[in-house]
Amino acid sequence: MTKATWFDTSIENSLLEHVSPEDEQGYFVYQLDALKAHLAALQQQDVIKLWFAVKANPLSKIIQTLDCAGFDFDVASAGELTQVLAQGVDPSRVLNTGPAKSKKQLAAFIKQGVRTFVVESLNQLTWLNEVVLEQELSSGEADKPKVLLRVQLQWHEGEKNPLGGNSLTPFGLSVSEWQNIHVDSYPALAICGLHIFQWGNMLSNEKMFSLWSQMISPLTDLANSIGMTLDILDLGGGLGIDYLGVGQTLSWPRIIADLAVIKAKSGVKELWLELGRFAVAECGYYVVPVVDRKMNYDQEQLVLAAGINHLLRPAITEQTFPVQILRAGFSAENTTMQAFDLHGPLCTSMDKLGHLHLPADIDVGDKLVFGYCGAYGFTESMPFFLCHELAAEYVYQDGILTQVRAAQPASSYLA
Ligand SMILES: Cc1ncc(COP(=O)(O)O)c(C=O)c1O
Repeated sequence: MTKATWFDTSIENSLLEHVSPEDEQGYFVYQLDALKAHLAALQQQDVIKLWFAVKANPLSKIIQTLDCAGFDFDVASAGELTQVLAQGVDPSRVLNTGPAKSKKQLAAFIKQGVRTFVVESLNQLTWLNEVVLEQELSSGEADKPKVLLRVQLQWHEGEKNPLGGNSLTPFGLSVSEWQNIHVDSYPALAICGLHIFQWGNMLSNEKMFSLWSQMISPLTDLANSIGMTLDILDLGGGLGIDYLGVGQTLSWPRIIADLAVIKAKSGVKELWLELGRFAVAECGYYVVPVVDRKMNYDQEQLVLAAGINHLLRPAITEQTFPVQILRAGFSAENTTMQAFDLHGPLCTSMDKLGHLHLPADIDVGDKLVFGYCGAYGFTESMPFFLCHELAAEYVYQDGILTQVRAAQPASSYLA
């Protein structure tokens, strides 16, 4: 192997040729042709309906590409809804998830035409029912907003992850809390499904299938006990990316085969997934120059122009993004490599992008390219600390690099 498996070499020349003083503090690039091909492959099935979890990457061009690929959109805030609607997506193709929906937000979403909600508390359910009655929407069965109740199960496997895993989170409610309701008490709503998602970045088909299988009976029992016909089961996201290069990746055909089994066993009409990283992570790259190199207590350190101000995820998940030097003709096989600590410019030891292998002769001014940055990159960072630049965002399509967002200096956001 001469190139990292995550690196699409067709983009290499464009990145090498891209010299722009405005982008010297780091920029993102999304490979739209590769994204299109990947999404088309995900849609080659008739088992699940696919939504895109906009939180993974809300850039206009990314949303447009998912729209063309037939994905609908899971939004978790008013800002995400505005961005999706601004791309010309009809609100009937929007699903609203998230634990912080106020009655005011629910009313605004209904007013804007959103008709599918994942409800995460008893208050949300009551408020949504009230909002529909107050806005005097047509009361025909077909016009009622579709509601899925988000369920948080507890497991014996005792694992934690950013979405909770086995720890208590604000995402949804326990079965015993939901058992206090009956669907007939909410006549303005079509309560027709359950949503469950609490495991992040799963890399094992077997483990996912096992977790999904264990969910069926508590969920169907719950539906029965509250008078719900369980038409829809939404299994969220959580399909993993091999950030650490451990050689474990999910097989999509296996997922489809497994989900066909889950669909049949649960007896639902529709099975939904809201994909974030599995849809968009691998189309994205982040490029950043090295500004200093030093030896410190026997450890080689590289200081980069930006770190967690542009890419926070490694600090909160302890999962690094893979990296490679951006150098014409680079091949790891023919290069002496060594491990470096990669630090950003912020005054916190958290600002570290990893302990990763790079050429031993790497020098100040060389550029690094990080992979899998199409998800949870630009908008999951902490860009304001120390008044650095906001990163630029580019798309690469038909061999052309096009800027979508220019880099912005601190003066653009400081008051
Ligand atoms: C409700 C919901 N759905 C889907 C996702 C996407 O998850 P992933 O990126 O693991 O696919 C998230 C991520 O936090 C989420 O909160």
